[in-house]
Amino acid sequence: MRPDEQQFLAANLTHWDEVAPIHAASAFYDVAGFRVRPDSLKPIEVAEAGEVRGKTLLHLQYHFGMDSISWARRGAQVTGVDFSPVAIDQARTLAREVGTAVRFVCSSVDDLPRHLEGLFDIVFTSYGVLSWLPDKQRWARTAAHFLKPGGTFYIVEFHPFAAIFDSGPDGEAMRIAYRYFPDGEPQVFEGLGTYTDREALLKHNRTYEFPFTVGEVLTSLAEAGLRIEFLHEFPHSTYQFLPFTHQTGPDEVRLLQHAGSVPPLFSIKATKPV
Ligand SMILES: C[S@@+](CC[C@H](N)C(=O)[O-])C[C@H]1O[C@@H](n2cnc3c(N)ncnc32)[C@H](O)[C@@H]1O
Repeated sequence: MRPDEQQFLAANLTHWDEVAPIHAASAFYDVAGFRVRPDSLKPIEVAEAGEVRGKTLLHLQYHFGMDSISWARRGAQVTGVDFSPVAIDQARTLAREVGTAVRFVCSSVDDLPRHLEGLFDIVFTSYGVLSWLPDKQRWARTAAHFLKPGGTFYIVEFHPFAAIFDSGPDGEAMRIAYRYFPDGEPQVFEGLGTYTDREALLKHNRTYEFPFTVGEVLTSLAEAGLRIEFLHEFPHSTYQFLPFTHQTGPDEVRLLQHAGSVPPLFSIKATKPV
């Protein structure tokens, strides 16, 4: 672990504690709609993660619990993990409101083996998780650690190649703004608000993110002893996480220009050998 890592994670934690209530009140997450129809999962993960009914599922970085609750309502016995104490309170309240049992654990992903016992049939994580974790090999070892032999790991995540672009001056054109290959330093973002409200004036508005390549993620999972079942790359996203995109259908967001040229999402499924 590099000496400044704890400092980066502490700054990120104060940021996530601050934005969790903003997100829960946002149109982006539509918690009011979720209370009426508690299912936030997107077709990609539902189709690819496989049957969850009757299985134990560990959800890494659940935010304030919507996806964890959704998997539980599909019949999984869910344990959710996130490092934000504010988010865990929100998650527990939401689970109670919709009458769904989920065990929520407050821990950083890297510390989880010290805070949680047991093995799971499925380890699941999704959309906006990896850039917060400084060491993808450590993350992969943690995911593998919690899988039963024969268990399934599944991730669907924003593609790091799409993350190299930003909008040009006209707001719509794409230009290369960031490197694809990590240089060992975190990317520092400041004063960007948050993805549900770019104008939000935050007290904790400096975050540290850790770039990664798809190859690094795949290789880390393989080195952790998992057998890769597939790596899928998608020509569309489910969330509008880039400014130069538009909604083209339910759960489908595409680039305004060059649609099909850049993969906004990838997914990986892997199994732990018996
Ligand atoms: C973008 S959100 C995940 C979004 C989730 N897919 C959703 O839409 O609800 C990222 C989450 O990672 C959590 N997080 C960031 N760094 C973490 C860490 N080191 N350990 C555990 N959780 C972390 C944050 O608290 C936040 O809830």
